[in-house]
Amino acid sequence: MTKGLAGIVAGETKISATTGGRLTFAGYTIEQLNAMDLSFEAIVYLLWHLRLPSESDLNRFCQILSEQMFLPEHYVRILTEMIRPGEQHPMSLLRSGMSLLGTLMNDQAQHPIAIMAKVPLVIGTIIRLQNGLEPLQAKPELSYPANLYYLSTGKVPDAETEEVFTQTLILHVDHEFNASTFTARVIASTNSDYFSSLTGAIGALKGPLHGGANERVYQMLQTIVENQLDPEKFVANELSEGRKVMGFGHRVYKDGDPREKILKKYAKSLAIKTHQEVWFDTAETVEKYMWAEKHIIPNVDFYSATIYHCMGFAGRDFTLLFAASRSAGWLAHIAEQYSQHTLIRPNSKYVGPYHADIAGDVVNS
Ligand code: CMC
Repeated sequence: MTKGLAGIVAGETKISATTGGRLTFAGYTIEQLNAMDLSFEAIVYLLWHLRLPSESDLNRFCQILSEQMFLPEHYVRILTEMIRPGEQHPMSLLRSGMSLLGTLMNDQAQHPIAIMAKVPLVIGTIIRLQNGLEPLQAKPELSYPANLYYLSTGKVPDAETEEVFTQTLILHVDHEFNASTFTARVIASTNSDYFSSLTGAIGALKGPLHGGANERVYQMLQTIVENQLDPEKFVANELSEGRKVMGFGHRVYKDGDPREKILKKYAKSLAIKTHQEVWFDTAETVEKYMWAEKHIIPNVDFYSATIYHCMGFAGRDFTLLFAASRSAGWLAHIAEQYSQHTLIRPNSKYVGPYHADIAGDVVNS
């Protein structure tokens, strides 16, 4: 038995892989896809259909997405009643918001593309209501990433911001059997519905050892930058107190997270563009120190925190952005799990005492 199922192959997938430290989506490396400069929608199509879309496939896909970008009646009103600005964690609201969406969307409408289309609206609505602002309607002429940005910030992104945001969302979209995706698959394996799987996955992503790490990275960098602390001394103190440094370490990648290498490039260019070099420089100092002292690598949540900050998002909303992207990956995995018709139900090793005869064995307590 291995701790936390490390190294255990728990099922088969054609969607993504991390073989040999390379991340692939349906067989394409993320470096290949990054060089092809594809849209987020094209990558989602790839994950869902296991092939890149033709131009007409993509146009049709984007058209349906845009037609489905509306929320069910009463949704915003119920969410408005639930929200107490500043009191609830945005990921708790997303968890409830996803569940509510499933309750208000009728069964026929529960198709992956219709669900995915509503995610930016749910997230934008949560962000805006938490800030005391009116929720916005999606703009059909915008891409999925640009709509997510617009619905959350109220601004249409400029071309460079949209490009960086798109690539950042692509790099978060799928990652084989990570904790939230596995959660989604376990729920789907019982033949439960899409929304139950997505709600469970959001709960798993929220945790600081998974997607919630990006918010903690923000808090760490903010503490260092705003108090003009020495990054090395700060991190040394964290380690000496036995605390984990957020945004570092990975269950699968031990020599480098391929996503982080691409994100670092974008983090640097965006920090320069927005005159927030201190955020990038601080992050890089922390990275170098962690490598020199512990040989631990930054993961996807590390430089994405600098990117989202430089784009103007609040730190507490960072994990929502991860969820906006990963939802498309979860939907791919839920559909694949349904097609496999297999209940996921492992065994456990019982380590407590017995108080009765088991199969004729002598009671041991
Ligand atoms: N800071 C300090 N030490 C660390 C860190 C870290 N971030 N990560 C791992 N270590 C140490 C850990 O203390 C352990 O040391 P020792 O062997 O002396 O006890 C060793 O490295 C192995 O760590 P582990 O926790 O047993 O490794 P794991 O594969 O079980 O955990 C991890 C992976 C991601 C949970 C862990 O690295 C971690 O907690 N990192 C911080 C949270 C984080 O950034 N999470 C995001 C994960 S990647 C993207 C995502 O899923 O969202």
